[in-house]
Amino acid sequence: MDFDWTRGFLLDFSVTDGLSQRAGSTKRRLSQMKGMYADAEAFEREVAGGDPVVYEFYELGTPEDSGDLAFGTSITYPGKVGNEYFMTKGHFHTVLETAEVYYTLSGEGCMLLENPEGDVALHPMIPGNALYVPKRYAHRSVNTGKVPLVSFYVFRADAGHNYATIETRGYRKLVVEGPGGIPVMMDNPKWGH
Ligand code: NI
Repeated sequence: MDFDWTRGFLLDFSVTDGLSQRAGSTKRRLSQMKGMYADAEAFEREVAGGDPVVYEFYELGTPEDSGDLAFGTSITYPGKVGNEYFMTKGHFHTVLETAEVYYTLSGEGCMLLENPEGDVALHPMIPGNALYVPKRYAHRSVNTGKVPLVSFYVFRADAGHNYATIETRGYRKLVVEGPGGIPVMMDNPKWGH
């Protein structure tokens, strides 16, 4: 990629016209999230039925320097596994004391936060609204709507991603479709296993 990290650059962030021409996306299919959804039967059914792309994100290859800012776009697609909404894996930052900003561009959803001490928070993601993810909190986007949930993110470029903690232990809470189609949090029956 030919971004000028030294002297600055301008980038068209519309995914179809600009970003996809200049940056690579990483796609996560449902089969890559084994064990993360509560309903194992529904999970296997969805994987066998086409293994949908659950989310993808665009990264620009920012130099991993503490003075740089990494930014890009995250897209979580609509769908459910049983009554649990499509979501990202979620991660802590390797440098745990690193915050992040998500600015929602389109769609409807929420961000599930959890710190190592077990404090949990759920914030709505609303187009035109910026969400501050504080340092020390793992963050996961959840699409509770019918169209892709698209957000712009930016964080300190040397923070890194720690996916392993979530992959091994899971989140304490899940976000599922409750009565009347309203998203609700519930305890993750698999947490810690
Ligand atoms: Ni992050």
